Parts: sequence; structure tokens; C-alpha cells
Amino acid sequence: MRGSLLLFAPFVGAAVLGPRAGSPDDCPSYKAVNINEQGQSLTADLTLAGDPCNCYGTDLENLKLLVEYQTDDRLHVVIYDAEEDVYQVPTSVLPRPQAHGDHHKKQPAIRFDYQPEPFSFRVLRDQEVLFDTSDTSLIFQNQYLKLRTWLPADPHLYGLGEHSDSLRLPTKNYTRTLWSRDAYSIPENTNLYGNHPVYVDHRGDAGTHGVFFLNSNGMDIKIDQTDDGRQYLEYNTIGGVLDFYFLAGPTPKDVAKQYSEIVGLPAMQSYWTFGFHNCRYGYRDVYDVAEAVYNYSLARIPLETMWTDIDYMYGRRVFTLDPQRFPIDKMRELVDHLHKHNQHYIVMVDPAVSDSDNGAANRGKEAGVFLTRGDDLYQGAVWPGVTVYPDWFHPGTQDWWNDEFSRFFSADGGVDIDGLWIDMNEAANFCPWPCEDPAAYAKDNDLPPAAPAVRDSSPRPLPGFPSDFQPKTSPAAKRSDTVKARRGKGSKAGLPDRNLLSPPYQIANAAGSLSNKTIDTDLVHAGDDSYVEYDTHNLYGTMMSSASREAMIQRRPKVRPLVITRSTFAGAGAHVGHWLGDNLSQWDKYRTSIAQMLAFASIFQIPMVGSDVCGFGGNTTEELCARWATLGAFYPFYRNHNEISSIPQEFYRWPTVADAARKIIEIRYRLLDYLYTAFHQQTQTGEPFLQPLFYVYPSDANTFANEAQFFYGDALLISPVQDVGQTSVDAYFPNDIFYDWHSGATVRGHGAPVHLSNIGITEIPIHIRGGSVIPLRATSAMTTTELRRRGFEILVAPNLSDYASGSLYLDDGESLQTDRSSQIEFEYRRGHLTIRGQFGYSANVVIESVTVLGQNRPPKQKRGVEFDAARHSVTKKVNIALSGPAEVDI
Ligand code: GLC
Repeated sequence: MRGSLLLFAPFVGAAVLGPRAGSPDDCPSYKAVNINEQGQSLTADLTLAGDPCNCYGTDLENLKLLVEYQTDDRLHVVIYDAEEDVYQVPTSVLPRPQAHGDHHKKQPAIRFDYQPEPFSFRVLRDQEVLFDTSDTSLIFQNQYLKLRTWLPADPHLYGLGEHSDSLRLPTKNYTRTLWSRDAYSIPENTNLYGNHPVYVDHRGDAGTHGVFFLNSNGMDIKIDQTDDGRQYLEYNTIGGVLDFYFLAGPTPKDVAKQYSEIVGLPAMQSYWTFGFHNCRYGYRDVYDVAEAVYNYSLARIPLETMWTDIDYMYGRRVFTLDPQRFPIDKMRELVDHLHKHNQHYIVMVDPAVSDSDNGAANRGKEAGVFLTRGDDLYQGAVWPGVTVYPDWFHPGTQDWWNDEFSRFFSADGGVDIDGLWIDMNEAANFCPWPCEDPAAYAKDNDLPPAAPAVRDSSPRPLPGFPSDFQPKTSPAAKRSDTVKARRGKGSKAGLPDRNLLSPPYQIANAAGSLSNKTIDTDLVHAGDDSYVEYDTHNLYGTMMSSASREAMIQRRPKVRPLVITRSTFAGAGAHVGHWLGDNLSQWDKYRTSIAQMLAFASIFQIPMVGSDVCGFGGNTTEELCARWATLGAFYPFYRNHNEISSIPQEFYRWPTVADAARKIIEIRYRLLDYLYTAFHQQTQTGEPFLQPLFYVYPSDANTFANEAQFFYGDALLISPVQDVGQTSVDAYFPNDIFYDWHSGATVRGHGAPVHLSNIGITEIPIHIRGGSVIPLRATSAMTTTELRRRGFEILVAPNLSDYASGSLYLDDGESLQTDRSSQIEFEYRRGHLTIRGQFGYSANVVIESVTVLGQNRPPKQKRGVEFDAARHSVTKKVNIALSGPAEVDI
């Protein structure tokens, strides 16, 4: 019996295949009893339907099933222990979405059906089976949960990050392990820094759906085929409950929007954060940093934000300054100089605090906010040597963190940063497990080479800076009285008798045992044994992220805080952006960055993302750095960064790299409002602006595995050169019309690759998709502040029906609560451009011109219209205030 018209219908499936002794195949599965349907939900009791198999722990005999049609497009299925003792992701870390009430259509877009015994379920969209757990046992033990779904042959699956594998996931013999790890060199096929147990299953014309497994425990997700060729995806997790959200799609963009309804919309960023950032680990002193700022300006390469790594700290201790190399007076001079020139400054903060006699550590100890083992502080080893770790579950941690921020980063007297970089928050620990002698793993020898004495002692001006510097004295820091408990609902006392260090099922953690090179997994958070590190490890970075965002907001309550983190969990995008960690200066990492960025921006809803441009580890080359400068200009977060043992790689170091950077930053900046508009759109609706090709052309099977190109917004197709020594690329153009950014030449996509050649190492192919209207700043500028004073050129790229549309979002560029904004819509049809929308923000600039591409002859009888034969375009000079509707004939 299988009823498609019923909300809930049992189906008859095959019996579970015969068990094999000593393996998970022995396990008996469950049967559903006391099935109760009420409105949009179904509940049942699941009882173990045979003898426990106890393959990786102890079977739980009594479970509960809850199925909810939460919206037309979202189905929630959760299987949890009847006693509700098992850990669940706290709602304080990831608030759960509410059902949208009784609003459903008669037939929701996806439906749930089930077989009571042995219990299994399916999720369908019309006749398409999206998820199917039949024919295999569901296992729910105290330290092991298994659930398998059958999939069609050759599935197109994406997501399940963080990883550096292909964007479309392999389908055979593939394991995705999720367990936060300090993963230098971001190796393929390993667990990396963050955890996003969500996948997108794209089936071409049959539609797209998403599956989010809300579980923070360590897990192996296996994608493979059975011996007889049946394709499956299987979750093997070492704790938590089976909590699934099924997202109906049916387009990739719909899935993205539906996912954002669960994990939250991404945080909007300030306009300046989209400028170019420069960083390096190994600036030996503040003069060195100032020199880099100065050299960028000499090279006329727009530097929006300068960063400083752990080098500024005294002995690598957070919330300290090295008094010799980075004295406060010179630091303030540096920051004042940057601010005076409309530039910005960011520094790094690590979570681990040096366990020495220093202010932050002492105050933290007094507040009791560090992780403990019994009565002792838990110690590890990070950059400063022996360290203690903040416990983000402790109710006093936020207050202590805020306090340290207001002391150290105070605008008057401290280091007045504009954004924050948080790192090592997996949490990293250099000490292998068991960490018996953290002191032996101190990395003090990694300090940058000693600066010449004269640099440290002489109070000379910073390079390129005025010499009339007057240091200020620091007033006492203010103490915040915000106390916010980080606890939330969703978890009761944990299950007893678990082996929290070496569970029976070992996930394929590339670091080895669970606790290796991180915090011991048997540690209890905030004295509450319902929160053990074993269950919450994957949340550490995200909890630090939201605490840091809050600390930044309390410093500057009115502006959007930029926080860039290394470790993330589902939902982190609502608080922070992410850089892709310690890649290498290699061509394969340059290529991989595209797939990684796309996964974060389009699937995980962390659109403020980018990798270390020119590469972090190893030495870059002029060619690689030039190419990467052009590719990085299409990362939302565009930062050059590398490590202490690598050669310096600021863009001004090589003539071609400098040239590439100047040219591409000019393009990026002219497009900055287009980026800002699309980014803002994502923060409002979840609609991703950076997209793999199949998001824009979901029916075109040639796009499904393409990760060499991407869409930057809906309008621009970016096709980077792929390898060393190449000056051409075979770029795929879907069946549509495209226009070359530089020449205006049309490319008519016919579903086959087009050979693009003569791409010099300072260039990157950019094509405008027909049907787009792009608001461009008429000229670029050295800073984004200056850029905002430039007028607009509206660029029209008509489609095959001579139609195009686009939009422009404007606001003050930084307010956390924006009450004045403009959302302007452009529509072009056969020589006529209509401008309308909401005009709440006054930008004080005008539209200076309108250009239409794809024109082979001058238009007849249109005065004031110039024809550019080389670019196949016409341009009309106009003077249109961005304050109300307008019409332009061109
Ligand atoms: C970590 C970060 C890297 C940083 C280094 C020193 O490896 O990932 O970006 O430069 O630590 O702080």
C-alpha cells in the first residue's frame, strides 16, 4: 500500500537482508508502533525488532520518530532516543527553524512514506524517490548510528564539507569524514577545518533537492556501490541523533534558499570588506608592516586592508603586543595612518591563551572560563607554548571575551581594529594525544628573524608615514556587563558508559585518534556532562565565531563586524566569513580553491569566502601569483596571505603580478556594487550569488561536473586559465549568448567548449551572460571610500530576445541596522531602459552613461548615442540621479 495523496502512507518493502555475524549487518533494525498522525506531523515509537547486535556499542531499544511537514518545501524527520538522554546540537549554537504553521498546499512538494516493520522510510518528490532507507538496518547505538539511503546510479552530489575534493563528489569507495582538524596543506580525501553535513543531489530535469543531517558528532559519510551495483550514501556517526531536513528544491537555487531557512541567512558585510586585503605571517615588526602598506601605495595597487598575524603578539600570546617589535605607540600610528587614508586594519586572535602570568589568562582563570579536567586546567600547546582553552559553553566566557576585546582593541588607547581574524579554532593543539608534556611542543623557535636593533629601538617614522606622531595614553578599559549563557535547549544529560577517547567505531580522522592534535574528547564543558567535547568538538570554531562577532559588536555597536574564521559548522555564515586555511602555492590548490569557494558560498551559506591568494605554504612563482591575483579578484573575500617560511609575495614584488593586480582590482572595484548587490540579496533570501554552472543551467548535463569555471552573480562567467605555462583555456559556454568583458565580442554557446586563447598572465577571461544589466562604477579608485564617490555606468548585455535585467542595492555600506537603502531594478527591452524600484538611500552620485553591448551599427535617429565599432556597443551619456524612476532610450 503506497498512497500518494495521503500525507503519511505506509509502503511495503523488501525484508532486510540476512545478517552476518559480528558486523553491523547483524543488527535487527526497528519496528514502528503507536503510529500517530496529527495534521502535519507523525509520531511513532520505534522498538528494536530483534536481539541487540551491539556492534559498536550498545543498541538503544526504544526510539521515537517525529516527522513534520514544516513548510511546503521542507520535511523534518528525526529519530531520537525515547529517554531523550542523547546529545543533540544545542539550540544556542544552531536555533531550529519553526514550522510555518498550517499553511500547506494540499500536496506538499515532497512526501514521506514508511514501512513499519522493519522500519524504513522514503522521501519522494512526485514519483522521484529522493531518499530511501529500505533494505538496510537502521542502527542506533550509544556510540554508533548508521543510516543508508539508496540513490540512482551516477548521482550528482555536492557538499558534505569541508573538503578539498572535487565539487561533484566521487560516487565509488568514497568516505567524507567530518571532524574539525588543523589541516595544513588541505590534503584531498581528508577531514579539514569545518563541518557541513549537507548535500545537494542534482538530477538534471528531474530536479534538485537537499539533505541536511543536523548532527555535530564525528562521522564518516560513505558514498559507494554494493557489489551488485546499487548506489548508496551512508551515514556512520559516533553519536547524536538522526535528525534530517529534506529540502524539496526543485532547483539548486531553491535548495540554497531552503537551507538558509534552517541554518540562517548569511551576515551582511560592509562595503569596504570587499576591497583587497593583504596579510603575511612573518612581518617582523611594525615597520615591516608599514613598509608593505607604503609599497602598495607606491605601486598604485589599491590596498583596502592590512592584516597582521600572530607576529604582533608578545611571545605569541593573545591580547598582548610585542613591546619591541610592535610597540603600542607605533601600532597606533600605523592604524591612525590607515584610517586617515580610508584603509583598514585587522589582526589575528587565537582561542588558546598562554598559560603564563598575563592579564587575559589571569582574568580568565578568575572567571573560571577555561576548560578543566577535574580541578585542573586542561593544557595544550599552541603558538605561545603551554596554553589553556576557553570553554565557549561556560556562561562567563562571553563576558570575559568581551572584556578582553574592550581592553585590548579599544579605540582610545588600544589597537583599534576594523575586523577580526580567528584561527586555530578546531581547536588546534600541537601536542599529540595523550598530551603529557605540552611544554615540549612550544613553537617559540618560529618567531620571525630578529629585526636589526635599530629597527626596534629608534623612534623613527614608519616608512612613508608623517613623523609628527604623538602617542596617547590609554584610559582604563570599560567592562561590559553583558553576560550571556551559551547553553540552550536540545540536550539532556549524556548517555553513560561511553568511551569518549577511543570509541568502538573509529572515524577516518586524518589526525588519527579523535583527540589527537586537538582538545581531549573526554573533557566536560562548563561542568555539565551533557556537553562533552566528544559530542561538541565540531562546534568549537562556530561558538568562538559567534562569541567574537558579539565582542566586535559591543566594541562598535553600529557597524557590521567582519570576522573571518578557520573552523565552521553549519550556520556559521550567519556570524562570520571563512578563509580556506593553509593551502599551498601550487597550481592544484589554485584550481581547488574554486570548488571549495563554490561549496561554501552556494551550498553552506558562508558566502564571505576565499583562499590565500598566491598560496600559503611553499614559495609562489610570478606566474602563479599573477594568475591567482586575477582569480582571487572573484573570491568574495580577496586576501593575499602566506607563511613565515615562504618568500614574501605581496603583489608589488613582481612587475607582472603588480600589473595583474592593478588591472583586475580595477575591474573588481568597478563591479563592487554588483557584488555588493548580489551579496546583499543572498543575505536576504539565501539565493547564492557565486554559483557553479549547473545552478544557472540546471538542465545542461555538461555543466554538472564543471568546477573550472563559475558564475560571479548571475551575469558573469569566469573561466580562469588552469595551469602553469598555459595561455588558453577550453571554456564551456551553455546554450546562450555571452559577451567578452574586454572586447565585447559575442560568444554563442552551443553546449561545447570554446577555445579561448592569448590570455596573458595578467588576464582572466570574463564573459557577460546575455540578459544582464550590470551597474558599474564609471571608474575605479584606490580605496572603496573613494569608489563610493564615483558615478555609475549601466552596462546592458541583451539576450537573444533583446532583453536584459539587473539590480542595484545601495546603502551606507556599513550600518548593522540599515534603515535607508535603495533597491533599484533595471529592465532593458529593445533600445529602452527602465529604471525603477525603491529609492531610500541617497548615494549622491549619478548614472553617467548607459552602454548596450552586441550592437553592430549605430542606432538610427538617436541623438547623443555614440557607437563603438570595436566593442560592438553603443553608449549614451546621461545624468540620472539615483533618487527616482527614469527611462532611457538608446
Ligand atoms: C595558521 C593559520 C595561518 C596563520 C598561522 C600563524 O596556520 O591557518 O593562516 O598564518 O596559523 O598564525
